[in-house]
Amino acid sequence: MNRFETIPKTRRCQAFITINEPVSSGLIRLEIEVDQEMDFLPGQFAMLNLMGPRKRTFGRPFSILACSGNRVEFLYRVVGGGTGDLAGLKPGHPLTMLGPLGTPFPAPVPGQPAVLLAGGVGLPPVLAWWHRFSRTDDRAFFGARDPGDLPWDLLPVSWDASVDAQGETPVGRVAWQGLVTELAERELTGMDLPPSMVLACGPIPLLEAAGRFAEGRGWDCFVSMEEHMGCGYGACKGCVIPIRSDGQPEAEGRNATCCQEGPIFRAEEILWKQIR
Ligand SMILES: Cc1cc2nc3c(=O)[nH]c(=O)nc-3n(C[C@H](O)[C@H](O)[C@H](O)COP(=O)(O)OP(=O)(O)OC[C@H]3O[C@@H](n4cnc5c(N)ncnc54)[C@H](O)[C@@H]3O)c2cc1C
Ligand code: FES
Repeated sequence: MNRFETIPKTRRCQAFITINEPVSSGLIRLEIEVDQEMDFLPGQFAMLNLMGPRKRTFGRPFSILACSGNRVEFLYRVVGGGTGDLAGLKPGHPLTMLGPLGTPFPAPVPGQPAVLLAGGVGLPPVLAWWHRFSRTDDRAFFGARDPGDLPWDLLPVSWDASVDAQGETPVGRVAWQGLVTELAERELTGMDLPPSMVLACGPIPLLEAAGRFAEGRGWDCFVSMEEHMGCGYGACKGCVIPIRSDGQPEAEGRNATCCQEGPIFRAEEILWKQIR
């Protein structure tokens, strides 16, 4: 499998905001213009930090949604001080970007369909993979809190959507109530699929369920581990997760940095019980 294509060079850029607007009740689309041409592979992320009085000691990691020339796009949700400050900013505000960072999702394998699973702010890397690589036999599922939280205009019409709580959906669009992994089970069970590859990003329970879903079918599964980060490039060890050491029992697992060795890992490598 082509696990890693040539990884684009990491750059430290000066940037300014060009778009910072809500696309749903909970998600905000951020577009920035950086001072050089950028490239990325789906699954990679960038560290963003504001300039001026709101600058933080460490930037915050965000998966790259899209990149074209000097424009880079993200989707984010406000959860704390850094994202709260970002949400209040207007086009023109300066920031710095370090990226792209981390390992990407694998490229598609001929003859092996992909099943994409995303939940909440796990959407950007999975949607980026879809835009870059998707083929007719790939399937994608996205789970949100409720229909208002779904960025309908960004979501390809062929994607299936699930919600925790029902509400009004746009004309012609539907959202099934339940977990996104249950929706994928419902849709795919009984279908005569060749061995497929599952790619997932979202909350830990979703990732763990994605791993079980794939394991039950003998499929490959790759997950994006969005652990809290400091530096973003392997120096602070603030983002480690326990993974299996090759051939060793669980008790002898080791810590892996999400920023450098990840954020994309094989689901079977991760010691899920030690993360919960
Ligand atoms: C590789 C990677 C990609 C990411 N991509 C995106 C993205 O595309 N869009 C997006 O909205 N967010 C993304 N995140 C999460 C994002 O980085 C955090 O939400 C952000 O750092 C929070 O900063 P803050 O200053 O607002 O919150 P803080 O004040 O730093 O924290 C507020 C609360 O959020 C919790 N928190 C902080 N970071 C995380 C995290 N990584 N996971 C779970 N809880 C966290 C804290 O424990 C605290 O309870 C990504 C994280 C990683 C590691
Ligand atoms: S964030 Fe510093 S080592 Fe990963």
